Amino acid sequence: MIAMSKTPDFSTRTSWDFAETDLVRAVRQRRAAGLPLYDLTASNPTRCGFQYDDDAILAALAQPQALTYDPDPHGMLAARQAVCRYYADHGAKLDPAHVFLTPSTSEAYSYLFRVLCDPGDEVLIAQPSYPLFDFLAQIDNVRLIPYPLFYDHGWRLDAAALRQKITPRTRAIAVVHPNNPTGHFTKSDERKELESICEAHGLALIVDEVFLDYPLGDNSASPSFACGEHPVLTFVLSGLSKIAALPQMKAAWIAAFGPAAILEPALQRIEVVADTFLSMNAPVQCALPVWLECRGGIQRQIIDRVRHNLALLDKTLSGTQASRFEVEGGWYAVLRIPAIEPDEAVAVRLVSKFGVELHPGHFFGFPASGWLVLSLLPKESEKADAYRSIALCFK
Ligand SMILES: Cc1ncc(COP(=O)(O)O)c(C=O)c1O
Repeated sequence: MIAMSKTPDFSTRTSWDFAETDLVRAVRQRRAAGLPLYDLTASNPTRCGFQYDDDAILAALAQPQALTYDPDPHGMLAARQAVCRYYADHGAKLDPAHVFLTPSTSEAYSYLFRVLCDPGDEVLIAQPSYPLFDFLAQIDNVRLIPYPLFYDHGWRLDAAALRQKITPRTRAIAVVHPNNPTGHFTKSDERKELESICEAHGLALIVDEVFLDYPLGDNSASPSFACGEHPVLTFVLSGLSKIAALPQMKAAWIAAFGPAAILEPALQRIEVVADTFLSMNAPVQCALPVWLECRGGIQRQIIDRVRHNLALLDKTLSGTQASRFEVEGGWYAVLRIPAIEPDEAVAVRLVSKFGVELHPGHFFGFPASGWLVLSLLPKESEKADAYRSIALCFK
C-alpha cells in the first residue's frame, strides 16, 4: 500500500499574494534590458551618499563590556539612559525604568500588540500611512482599522471619523508623528483630542516618532509626545534607523508614559514579552549612546538634502499636471496627479517609458488613482534627471 504523503498547512495569517505585481515586473524588465532607472523609492540612508563618522560608529562596537552577557529585559541601563538624554534634548523627562530597547520600531509595535490585544482586537491607524503596519498587525492577529486624514491647507486628523471607528474591540490608537508619507506633525489640539478619546474609551496611545527630528519648515517642528502630561497610557516609539540614519544597527525603543495605576501593569507585561526574547545584542547596546550622540551631523545632511530636493522638485514640476502636497517633516513627498487611471498603471508607465521608479499612492492607503509618493533622500547626481522625467510624463 502506498502511503499518501501529507504536507503541512500554513496559517491563514500568512496567505499573502506572492504574485509579481505589474510594477515589480516593469522594474525587473527595465533592469534586465540594461536601461537606466532612477530609483525615487530609495530611502535607505546608508546608500544615499551621506557622510557618516565611520570611525566613531565602528569604534563604538568594540567596547569591552560587549564581551559579557548580562541580560536585562529592558535593555542595558547605560543605553536606556542615553535614550532618556535624547528625550531630555527634546524637553521631556523620562525614567530609564520606563524604557524598553528593541531591535526595531517594528518589533516594538509587535511587543505592544501582544500586550494590548487579543486575536481579533483592533488598533486604529491613520490613513494614508506606512504600508508595513498591515503586515505587523496581521502577523500578530491584530485588525488595523484605518481612520482618515484630510487635506485642507495641510493634513489634519479627522477626529469625528476616528470616533466612529471605535468598537468594543478597539484597544489602541496609533499615530505617526510626523506621519509617513504625508509628513504632517500632530498638532497640540489634535493630541488633546486623541488623549480625550483614549481616556473616554480606555484606549492606549501608540506614537511612532521615527521622523521626529526631520522638520522641514522653519516652524514646522512639533514637540515629542514624551513632553507634557500623560493622562492616558502612552507608548512613544523611535529608534536609530531614522534618528541616526543607521537602520542596519537594529536599535530602537519603547518609552512608556501614563498614570501609575495603568503604567505599572503595562511595564510588567512588556517586561515578560521582552524577557521571552531578549532580542538586543550587547555590542549594539554598548554603542547606542555613541551613535545617538553622533546624530546631529547626519540629521543636518539629511534635512539639507530633503529641503533641496523639495525645492528642485517644485521648480521642475511647476507648470505640469503634477503638484506636491505640503510636507512638514520626514523624508517623503506626496504628489497629486490627474486621477484618470490607476496609480499602479501610472507608476508602471513611469518605469517603462520614463525610467523613474516611485511608489503608487495606494501602497500608503491613498485612493487607487491620483497619488504618487517619492523618497526625498536620493542624491544629487540622480534626482534632477528623474524629476525632469516626471515633469515630462505630466506635462
Ligand atoms: C513610520 C515608520 N515607522 C517605523 C519604521 C520602521 O523603523 P525600524 O527600522 O525601526 O523598524 C518606518 C520605516 O520606514 C517608518 O516609516
